[in-house]
Amino acid sequence: MSPASPASDRWIVLKFGGTSVSRRHRWDTIGRLSKRRAEENDARVLVVVSALSGVTNELTAIADGAADSMERVGKLEQRHREFLAELELDADAVLGERLSILRALATDPRAVERTLPWQAEVLGQGELLSSTLGAAYLRASGLDFGWMDARNWLQAAVLPNQNAWAQRLSVSCSPLASAEWGEGFRQQPARMLLTQGFIARHRDGDTAILGRGGSDTSAAYFGALLGAQRVEIWTDVPGMFSANPREVPDARLLTRLDYAEAQEIATTGAKVLHPRSIKPCRDAGVPMAILDTERPELPGTSIDGNAVTVPGVKAISRRNGIVLVSMESVGMWQQVGFLADVFERFKRHGLSVDLIGSSETNVTVSLDPSENLVTTNVLAALSADLTEICRVKVIAPCSAITLVGRGMRSLLHKLSDVWATFGRERVHMISQSSNDLNLTFVIDEVDADGLLPVLHAALIDSGAMPVEETSVFGPRWREIANGIRKRETPWWHGERARLLAMAEAGTPRYAYHLPTVRARAQALNALAPIDQRYYAIKANSHPAILQLLVEEGFGLECVSLGELQRVFEIIPELSPRRVLFTPSFAPRAEYEAAYGLGVTVTLDNVESLQRWPEVFRGRDLWLRVDLGRGDGHHEKVRTGGKDSKFGLPVAKVETFVALARGLGANVIGLHAHLGSGVETPQHWKQVCDELGGIAERIGSVEVIDIGGGLPIPYTEDDEPFDLEAWGAGLSEIKAAYPGYRLAIEPGRYLVAEAGVLLLTATQVVEKDGVRRVGLDAGMNALIRPALYDAWHDILNLSRLDDANDGVFDVVGPICESSDVLGKRRRLPDATSDGDVVLIADAGAYGFAMANAYNLRALPKEEVLDV
Ligand code: LLP
Repeated sequence: MSPASPASDRWIVLKFGGTSVSRRHRWDTIGRLSKRRAEENDARVLVVVSALSGVTNELTAIADGAADSMERVGKLEQRHREFLAELELDADAVLGERLSILRALATDPRAVERTLPWQAEVLGQGELLSSTLGAAYLRASGLDFGWMDARNWLQAAVLPNQNAWAQRLSVSCSPLASAEWGEGFRQQPARMLLTQGFIARHRDGDTAILGRGGSDTSAAYFGALLGAQRVEIWTDVPGMFSANPREVPDARLLTRLDYAEAQEIATTGAKVLHPRSIKPCRDAGVPMAILDTERPELPGTSIDGNAVTVPGVKAISRRNGIVLVSMESVGMWQQVGFLADVFERFKRHGLSVDLIGSSETNVTVSLDPSENLVTTNVLAALSADLTEICRVKVIAPCSAITLVGRGMRSLLHKLSDVWATFGRERVHMISQSSNDLNLTFVIDEVDADGLLPVLHAALIDSGAMPVEETSVFGPRWREIANGIRKRETPWWHGERARLLAMAEAGTPRYAYHLPTVRARAQALNALAPIDQRYYAIKANSHPAILQLLVEEGFGLECVSLGELQRVFEIIPELSPRRVLFTPSFAPRAEYEAAYGLGVTVTLDNVESLQRWPEVFRGRDLWLRVDLGRGDGHHEKVRTGGKDSKFGLPVAKVETFVALARGLGANVIGLHAHLGSGVETPQHWKQVCDELGGIAERIGSVEVIDIGGGLPIPYTEDDEPFDLEAWGAGLSEIKAAYPGYRLAIEPGRYLVAEAGVLLLTATQVVEKDGVRRVGLDAGMNALIRPALYDAWHDILNLSRLDDANDGVFDVVGPICESSDVLGKRRRLPDATSDGDVVLIADAGAYGFAMANAYNLRALPKEEVLDV
């Protein structure tokens, strides 16, 4: 390839890290991407590379004087030779000279004293090796690549206050280039060039090192010096995230940041880009991008000066190993020069201070180990010096949890849940940066475990992290990593005209789509391990739904005499053998009535057997047990464990069975239902297993009922329940307990998605910056949001095709503050009174829990079939 425009001065800098240069196919990618960038942009390309992965660690050990240095050198040589063999290159011809330099360094007389120049020389070998072999491979692949020694182009700067170590092994470079420099670069004959990250020239002519993460910084210096069109950092993650994806799988890719935010995120935790690398590009106005070598099709993170400013938290991070130094004054407080004396002592030990908190008698600072050499020796020496002027306490290890984003101060009112999360931990220090970009909490390291996912979710829920801003927030990590199974398009998209016509006849109105109920029933019917299916009619007892499910072979599970009567009123011919009665704290008369009707009665306490022996004498019954824990979408729907009123504790099973036997009653069923909206399929497998064990001990059990509780995907983020995995887990357990019939009793799963609630907008009102759309019913028609903070999608059915370009709180007409159906919902900006609004997935526990509070009428109900 010859230069498109000779001596072109348009440059693109591409940086590839350790994992991106350690495999042959990755070098093919480097070649392909470089060529494409050059052609697309009519530009020249400079590729900056790191050492092969793991090599810098080895070289660090050698530079640190490891006893087995010679052995390590031998292994490094072997590693590079093997890689050259994989690349089908002649190792001696390509790397012979470099490898002998490496060997010579190990036996160099300077190795004994480990002088700093020698250490720098050793550390720099990794990049020299990788760039040399890479250039040879790319040329052998027919690409026009030149090799450059970065030390001839990057000069280490001398900074005041830097100790000798930093001046050699953690240098900065001058981002200013002479005309001569630029000309020299332009004159390079090849269109594409390859050079090393991490190394520069010390003013004495020897090697200097840019420090950890230095390759990013090298690329940034080159980008700035060349006035490049862009610096692309190619790495093994898709970009910067709103939290560390390893800790928070729901973390969002940040697709666009400004320099200051990116700097803050990089500084406070994200490892993907070295913080030092942003300033050179920022000063020179060179845009940066972080991209994934394995997934180049992803958008990555773009960082530039033109990013639109979206206020809100963009990321949370956690830095471990933070050391707090707390200094209590002993009489010298408020004296002129006290702080100067304190900080002079930090300077003396080469320590730079990160956060500062102060009170009348105390000043506490934090030391970040990534910026400091915080050894126990250094700390002991520092403490000794500080003791001269104050009382010192070192608190370590701590974690610094930082929220980063523009306009922190204006967000404080949204952070109440975040404060609450921290409230349980001991916060040593809170610090808000003066640039209004970050808020940091320092807590003990042990307390920080598991905190980030909770915080991340709280920030989204509170609106402090505006994930609906698609210009900034991209896909979730788990979506990128695993791909997610999407919800199917809801039925009502195809029924808009009919629904609008129904709404004409008056709202609030529930509409139930029977084909959806039928489809869910058939999906459950197709599962082999389940022998008996019951529908929990408390979810929705509309006659058409009961009839449909009975036709599909379902029995019905009732919890009150009212429900039992409803069932036999609607389906008088239904065999009572297909009906369960599973009440909670019901009066004696309801049990008697249930036995009178011939249905199967479930009991969950010994007291009823003792108090009302006549009711149960000689009867069959099922026993409901509490397996000691609950689960479910909200604390209020968990029905197991000490705090729950449901179920007989396992420890009392023997007593119960003995009492029953004494009455000639027969325990033929064993039941557990530990909660509703449980997301893990393994839950029921475990329940089934435990019930199987208990059933074996009872002896008379014929049926094991593992309850309901199956979830549905209410939000776009929720994955549909994996019925197959669920069934497979149950089959496994069933094989271990073949003697029992397996029963289930779901409610929500069958009907939730089949129902929508149609409402009419009454008013649209703005107050203190919040726009609210009011509807003709709220918590009286659908109480789930008020009761459980439940999410239901909300759509403007009248303007379904309009863009959702407005943000509203959606509220009802009830005189309660909790009468809110959704906060910060996206709806068409033009939403106005008279519009028909659809609340999705309201088929379960919707009408069933509706009430006439404020004397507002109950909603109407209607069904749609085919
Ligand atoms: N079996 C028993 C004994 C139950 O108590 C329940 C629900 C079910 C089965 C059916 O659970 P499902 O499959 O629908 O999760 N109002 C709450 C749900 C309360 C569930 C009460 N018991 C909500 O709207 O989320």
